[in-house]
Amino acid sequence: MKRRLENILVAGGAGFIGSNFIHYVFKNTDFKGKIINVDKLTYAGNLENLVEIKSKYGGKRYFFEKADICDFDEIKRIFKKYDIDTVVNFAAESHVDRSIYGPKDFVNTNIIGTFTLLEVARENWEGRRDVLFHHISTDEVYGSVEEGGYFCEDTAYRPNSPYSASKASSDHLVRAYHKTYSLPATISNCSNNYGPYQFPEKLIPLMILNILEEKSLPVYGDGRNIRDWLYVDDHCSAIWKILKEGKTGDTYNIGGDNELENIKLVNMLCEMIAQIKGKEEKYYKKLITFVKDRPGHDRRYAINCNKIKRELNWKQKYNFRDGLNKTVNWYMNNQTWVNRVRSGEYKNWIIINYNNR
Ligand code: NAD
Ligand code: DAU
Repeated sequence: MKRRLENILVAGGAGFIGSNFIHYVFKNTDFKGKIINVDKLTYAGNLENLVEIKSKYGGKRYFFEKADICDFDEIKRIFKKYDIDTVVNFAAESHVDRSIYGPKDFVNTNIIGTFTLLEVARENWEGRRDVLFHHISTDEVYGSVEEGGYFCEDTAYRPNSPYSASKASSDHLVRAYHKTYSLPATISNCSNNYGPYQFPEKLIPLMILNILEEKSLPVYGDGRNIRDWLYVDDHCSAIWKILKEGKTGDTYNIGGDNELENIKLVNMLCEMIAQIKGKEEKYYKKLITFVKDRPGHDRRYAINCNKIKRELNWKQKYNFRDGLNKTVNWYMNNQTWVNRVRSGEYKNWIIINYNNR
């Protein structure tokens, strides 16, 4: 049966990937329906990311509801109000370091929040086949993989941080709701994203801003941990493919085919910014400082994303150098966004500018 795909509840749509996804759908797809952005606006949620979307589609095809995904009654109200037929669940506590120092919010939002969304969907969608619950997850659920190995969709889960354990748990709930209650659901597990609107606690934006401000560049451990990097728009295009054509009940791995040691990435950023600023590379490279390692730091992530390429005809569009260049330029040209996000001033901005939903 064809999916209805008319009224999409995007949970966590004010965050990094969620807001990029909303931009992507309105700008790059044939979507004609409504997007309802449901976000609690934690430190990581920022409605400034969506100003353009709000002014073009607000009140007609784009709606914002400030709500916690753990709040059953609120989610139920939103489902009814907008006749939701699709959920894309980005809402999460997403930063590994924060999960090490305070795991409670991760358990609440990532596990209880996903459970709440699933419960409301189950209650509202009983017997329907034209609906879909798509859950956004991470390659971190698979743990760390040795040189030469890759994460495939059937790789066993071995999460090592409170963050990845909470994401693994939510994935299992989604799977169980599909198997037990026949809830139409899909899951995608993606590698490290980068691009505009990423909160500057994550490696790439943190390093870009520290280089520009000539602050020290804290590299954990020996800097030889490996991550696979994907430009955020490529993640969004993969999610859109899954919503349209993904097989109900299936999991899809999404990756950049782009593994890199952290230290190499930091060196690349120093070189790129040195070129833009007309400085010598060593001027910035001398800021690199090796610091105490992250506890339980996974050594290597490497994703095999052949399934989505083969079955849904998806592929990455951006090569790493171009994507990184775009990202560096975005942070250089959006200093006001950076200042507001860092100062928390955007919360006041919301109160002043966004009271009228
Ligand atoms: P983010 O931290 O930038 O955004 C998370 C959003 O969720 C924020 O807008 C926040 O306000 C909202 N949120 C948090 N708790 C909420 C709650 N209880 N109720 C409603 N909204 C809440 O995260 P991101 O980097 O955009 O990641 C989005 C999703 O993608 C997450 O599920 C994450 O696990 C997954 N993921 C991220 C990456 C990556 O590299 N960033 C890679 C793979 C998967
Ligand atoms: O793999 C997907 C995951 O990628 C997502 O599920 C997470 O939500 C997302 O935050 C990201 O997790 P990482 O832990 O890989 O990302 P982070 O940017 O925090 O770190 C990337 C690598 O850089 C990691 O090996 C730790 C290292 N690092 C990070 C920071 C912030 C440093 O060396 N120094 C730093 O200051």
